[in-house]
Amino acid sequence: MGNGMGSERGPEDGEGAGYSMAPAERLPLTDDCHHYGGKDQVPWDIQKYFAQRYSVFSWYDEGVYLTDDAWFGVTPEPIANQIAVDMGAADEKKTILVDAFAGAGGNTIAFALSGRWQRVIAIERDASTLACAQHNAQIYGVDPSMVSWVHGDSFEYLDALANHPGALHPDLRVDMDTTVLFSSPPWGGPGYRSDEIFDLHSMQPYNLEQLHKSYESMDHVLYLPRTSNIRQVARLAPAGCKIEVVQYCMQGASKAMVAYIPARNPTSREDEPGEEPPVEDPMSTDSDSSPSVQKSTAPTNGLDSSVS
Ligand SMILES: C[S@@+](CC[C@H](N)C(=O)[O-])C[C@H]1O[C@@H](n2cnc3c(N)ncnc32)[C@H](O)[C@@H]1O
Repeated sequence: MGNGMGSERGPEDGEGAGYSMAPAERLPLTDDCHHYGGKDQVPWDIQKYFAQRYSVFSWYDEGVYLTDDAWFGVTPEPIANQIAVDMGAADEKKTILVDAFAGAGGNTIAFALSGRWQRVIAIERDASTLACAQHNAQIYGVDPSMVSWVHGDSFEYLDALANHPGALHPDLRVDMDTTVLFSSPPWGGPGYRSDEIFDLHSMQPYNLEQLHKSYESMDHVLYLPRTSNIRQVARLAPAGCKIEVVQYCMQGASKAMVAYIPARNPTSREDEPGEEPPVEDPMSTDSDSSPSVQKSTAPTNGLDSSVS
């Protein structure tokens, strides 16, 4: 696990000296990083994911590396690409994208290659996973100057950005008004796989409240289980604002629910709990025929029903 520091050597050394967080250097691949060449090398609980490796990374054979844990959470490439397109439609004044849970780089690579952002700040607290992400970004030809990798805790980063930005290396001090945040947290917790409707209050290790509290002053995008309770998401809408919720589908089945949430307006009375909006079933998907990615949205009170 990471230590909240900006690099393996620690911010007291080199360029990160004196800062609580600084861009990470290129981290070495470790014994926990693997490029499996065949099913016989793959632990049994990952074999299902390994079978889908080209949907996850189409360039897998070029030498993509993952930790065993990363297989469970990586965003499949067609979905990462579509999210990058959709986030690219943000207001032009948004120029920086923060990826709060970079993982093995699935989303970070798509954001960096989209050409839409001046820079992507990609945060990952596990050194081996971050090393995989850096390696995979190189395989995909990401310009190293496009991504500031951070080895640390994204909640600590956001807290520092909001409350004591001087603690951050200058490259990590961004204007929150011109920044959007993407968050694909771990989806642990009881019932994520089995419940018809997943209670986002019980998501572990970070529940919806914790995520929202950390993100609410910025436009942010949450990548959530497909069965997430959409009423809980709808309640996050700042006063007078709408949230767009999109189901991202592959082969006719939803892989994730993604919520596009505007920043809290500091002058509004957004802190007052809103009435629970009526909600329609968000789980409909468009068809079984499969272009690489399909999207479907569900209209709700407070949620935009538009599909781009
Ligand atoms: C679901 S995965 C992200 C997958 C990523 N979007 C991808 O496509 O590869 C979640 C990642 O968040 C990391 N993580 C967990 N807590 C974190 C924290 N507080 N700050 C930064 N990273 C964290 C985990 O190590 C894990 O790699």
